[in-house]
Amino acid sequence: MKKKATVLVSGGAGYIGSHTAVELIAAGYDVVIADNLSNSDRTAVEGVRAITGVDVPFVEVDCCDRAAFRKVFEAYDFDSVIHFAASKAVGESVRMPLEYYRNNLTSLMNVIDLMRESGRSNIVFSSSCTVYGEPEKQPVTERTPRKPATSPYGNTKQMCEDILRDSIAAYDGLKGIALRYFNPIGAHPSALIGEQPRGVPQNLVPYITQTAAGIRECLSVFGDDYPTPDGSCIRDYIDVVDLAKAHVAAIARMIEDRNAERYEIFNIGTGRGVSVLELVRRFEQVNGLKLRYKIAPRREGDIVAIWADPTRANEELGWHAERSLDETLAAAWAWERRVREA
Ligand code: UFG
Repeated sequence: MKKKATVLVSGGAGYIGSHTAVELIAAGYDVVIADNLSNSDRTAVEGVRAITGVDVPFVEVDCCDRAAFRKVFEAYDFDSVIHFAASKAVGESVRMPLEYYRNNLTSLMNVIDLMRESGRSNIVFSSSCTVYGEPEKQPVTERTPRKPATSPYGNTKQMCEDILRDSIAAYDGLKGIALRYFNPIGAHPSALIGEQPRGVPQNLVPYITQTAAGIRECLSVFGDDYPTPDGSCIRDYIDVVDLAKAHVAAIARMIEDRNAERYEIFNIGTGRGVSVLELVRRFEQVNGLKLRYKIAPRREGDIVAIWADPTRANEELGWHAERSLDETLAAAWAWERRVREA
């Protein structure tokens, strides 16, 4: 296959970053991974190499260290950056706001600055449906108003979107796409890469798989008295491989489509809302097991329901969520079992 271009993937040893590196390589791009391994593991880079058969270059570097990060820009020839590197735990951000503001804002500003000073063009930024807060209408489109953020983490996503928008407006030659992810879950079908939460998982699916594996005693379902059909919260769970492919489509659009706006935003979700209890039941059915769970009080800060209108990504990026929820939940369980065997 003819090589297309080289993409720097910051945070490429992380959950979404590693899956995106794989899909970029499968689509004919060269990839350079930069990651400070603060919340990720070198084994993910090994996984990317094993899946693709490519000896992907990896640089251990903190994007907040501008001098060190500049060396990556000097050493490698790339025109596009996908910037994943960021802190991402909502609860932790409430306890450590300064760390979140410093890390997430500084790293993005460094990326943009280094791109500008070295004449690089294209950036994809990892945003989140958290920018919509508790929406008044479902599903949310990109034009649904952003609500004030409910956590420092959510605030960094809003601020980073604004920093990117304003920088692109001010500096010719920069183009950017912000992808607003809904809830990424699952793992690569090879089970060579997946989510590797440190400590007690804060997110639903890793908690489910660890409970099924016997590491956690019992899943707590946070609330069954919400105004939803079964009383539990509703989210739009997007397969991580599908999500990874959306980044490939975003890069291709910036390289190939000269008529596209210089700054664009896309929702990346399935368009399907699934409740916590539905997800638990599907997980049990697909994987043929019983999960210990109990109903627990609501978790502070949770919104009741949100799911995406992905029409814009479908039409403009030519991207669609393809994997079924069942496939995704089977992959999540296969990954958990492999981690335990290793
Ligand atoms: N949940 C449980 N039990 C658990 C964990 C989660 O019932 O042990 C429930 C939550 O209450 C929520 C749903 O499962 O209703 C999903 O929770 P997650 O923590 O997996 O995901 P969130 O929707 O809270 O958060 C995700 C991302 C954030 C992002 C946010 C935007 O993790 O980065 O979506 O809404 F900001």
